[in-house]
Amino acid sequence: MSQALDEIKIGGLGSSRKRVEDNRFIRGRGNYTDDITLPGMLHMEILRSPLAHARIKSIDTSKAWEVPGVHLVLTGEMMATRNLAWMPTLSYDTQAVLATDKVRFQGQEVACVIADDPYVAKDACEKIDVEYEPLPAIVSPMQAVAEGAPVIRDDKEGQPDNVIYNWEVGDAEGTDRAFAQADVISKLKLHYPRSHPSPIECCGSIADFNRATSKLTVYMTTQAPHIIRAAVALVAELPEHMIRIISPDIGGGFGNKVPVYPGYVCSILASILLERPVKWIEDKSGNLISTGFARDVYLDGEMALRNDGKILAVRMHTDADHGAFFSDAQPSKFKIGLMHSTFACYDVPVGHLTARGMYTNKAPGGVAYRCSFRVTEAMFFQERMIQAAADDLGMDQAEFRRINLVKDDKFPHRTPFGFLLDSGQYGKCLQVGLEAADYQDFLRQKQEAKERGRLLGIGISTMTEPLGAGNSREYDILGIKMFDSAELKVHMTGKAIVRTGTRGQGQGHETTWAQIVAHELGIPAEDVVVEEGDTDTAPFGMGTYASRSTPVAGAAVAMVARKIRAKARRLAAHLLEVSEEDIEWELGRFYVRSARDRGVTIQECAMAAYSNMPDGMEPGLENTAYYDPPNLTWPFACYIVTVEVDPQTGVWDVLKMVAVDDCGVRINPMIVEGQIMGGLTEAYAMANMQFITFDADGNCVGSNYMDYLLPTAWETPGFELHSEVVTPCPHHPIGAKGIGECAAVGGPAAFVNAVLDALKDTGVRNIDMPLLPDRVWQAITYRRDVSGAPPVRSDD
Ligand code: CDP
Repeated sequence: MSQALDEIKIGGLGSSRKRVEDNRFIRGRGNYTDDITLPGMLHMEILRSPLAHARIKSIDTSKAWEVPGVHLVLTGEMMATRNLAWMPTLSYDTQAVLATDKVRFQGQEVACVIADDPYVAKDACEKIDVEYEPLPAIVSPMQAVAEGAPVIRDDKEGQPDNVIYNWEVGDAEGTDRAFAQADVISKLKLHYPRSHPSPIECCGSIADFNRATSKLTVYMTTQAPHIIRAAVALVAELPEHMIRIISPDIGGGFGNKVPVYPGYVCSILASILLERPVKWIEDKSGNLISTGFARDVYLDGEMALRNDGKILAVRMHTDADHGAFFSDAQPSKFKIGLMHSTFACYDVPVGHLTARGMYTNKAPGGVAYRCSFRVTEAMFFQERMIQAAADDLGMDQAEFRRINLVKDDKFPHRTPFGFLLDSGQYGKCLQVGLEAADYQDFLRQKQEAKERGRLLGIGISTMTEPLGAGNSREYDILGIKMFDSAELKVHMTGKAIVRTGTRGQGQGHETTWAQIVAHELGIPAEDVVVEEGDTDTAPFGMGTYASRSTPVAGAAVAMVARKIRAKARRLAAHLLEVSEEDIEWELGRFYVRSARDRGVTIQECAMAAYSNMPDGMEPGLENTAYYDPPNLTWPFACYIVTVEVDPQTGVWDVLKMVAVDDCGVRINPMIVEGQIMGGLTEAYAMANMQFITFDADGNCVGSNYMDYLLPTAWETPGFELHSEVVTPCPHHPIGAKGIGECAAVGGPAAFVNAVLDALKDTGVRNIDMPLLPDRVWQAITYRRDVSGAPPVRSDD
């Protein structure tokens, strides 16, 4: 008779176990960087540039030094004496820590004051006198390459212009040949505006250099503590083993907390100079105006089509606005991230993609906000293009997708840009979505509404995205290969601790990593504690972003648990006095194959590992696994939105939104749903209300939460989620695929497509996000496309 445990009851795979971290979060007991106070701690504030582009003629700090309570005033000139005025970025560029020669964006860090309290430091910042000589500002890639444009990065030797890179992938000649065969060529041009990750908690750090031990401890808001440790070792030239990075609870990251920010570096130097802990907590406007932005790309593409609906080829060009420094993280050889994952879910025979990155006088941009290295832009363009192409062919948009989506029996599928897709049921996802949205009935309603002057629209977005970078053959950051790790220690009473190189920011890793251990070992999830974010205790890992935690670190957790199980099997054979070959496993228990009731639990094996090992066996039950994924994981999603647009005001309301996500095996279905709902909310916000742009002088417009709106439950529409399509990932040890960002990546196009579908009869092809009522109204009234690209008038 089987004595196997019930996996759901012990909180294993598929259990919607409540999030253990919420015990402290909902009680207000989280431990965020700003909650930490160290003895003798000082506070740092940053003086930022009011101008977007200007030469610095002089900086006079004398009055700031005179303010009682001020301990240190840092300028770029002082940083330069320590070779720290500039720092390397994660993309092989350099970035000013504190400006010396010029300021290159509004909000750039110019000086820092360290004082007894943050208010004194802030007041003293205002006493610093900076004389600027204004220079013309560049706020778009087009301006950056226009004749006579000032060279923004004149600090860089051999940088003749504002171009950072030119990159291409695909088959240019083959694409030309396919276009020559086309019956119809469909074209689309659009701007994906700057978006701000807007975590509730801004960035911050507390640097604590101890002269007596020579150890530097930094508590900070980073999604990738080990990468920061390496960066600090290189930038500050400190020995790596004397650096401890602790990333406590993080109040949202979304990619914002991957880059290295000047504030971190200044607080570290200040602590070394003053030999006291120095805390820097970024304020909201500092975060909104100067932190790593996302998107800001201009996309221009065309598609070669056959009259029967078959896609023959795609061509696409991206101009990316990186701001003043190329500082976001990219897997090294992909200059524009994974932009070339575009059209991956469609059977496109050939394609050619080019990309150009430019410097502008804006805060550094390009961070992957809830996005796997630019896939958001890629999927947005793809799905907008698919709808435009269907319209150009006069074909139903669902049918057009059905014809071109990769069929189930065509996996593994190689895309024209080199990715290998290993699994999926794209047609089924689409079908589930269409049925849930009552597609045919909605088309009928839409027609009826039109006859009465009402505008209804339906938008679809179907997409797969590459989650889980790397493998180490292709993916690295600054040459460091993108694998991940997990360490598992089973104590003698069968309780366990698992540590990973990732650092969650609200995703629920403390809950789900324990579920993977429960699934692999039968140790109840509640007996497994999860720890992340301390470089002195966690094994090396590349951190949490790009929804890579489950695909890479989650796999490492499964693999280390299997190593533990292998040793426990040898212990079980010893305890049961049979040979290992005679031992069988069922959840939580080994038993003798010929006598099922003779068995030992995993907990009994754990005790034996410390008290009754066979001769020659190393004591203890712990291990570490480093996992280098063979491929990315490819979840698939189908999002369908129906809207009604008011032709008098341009206001649009969501009638229904349906989401069908296939992320393979779901570890915790409730957490997965939470991830999807959060992502859809952000997608809705980007499509509908988030407006941050720049005027002709480079002033950041919309740099406050009155203009850049974060949706609350009040504004956010309801979402209907479907989980019936499950295609396990063939190479992941538990069949899981990433999910964290799918909805934020695929969602925006569904909303925009729906509004444009409602406006189809006007002939309008594009309205740039956000689809603010006045933009929609302009499109309806003047029957023309509406661009949102900067510069804007500052009173817009
Ligand atoms: O890297 P990040 O944690 O942001 O993204 P993820 O790996 O997609 O995971 C987000 C959350 O969803 C984690 O708590 C995962 O363990 C959970 N998840 C899950 O339960 N099942 C999946 N198939 C994928 C993720």
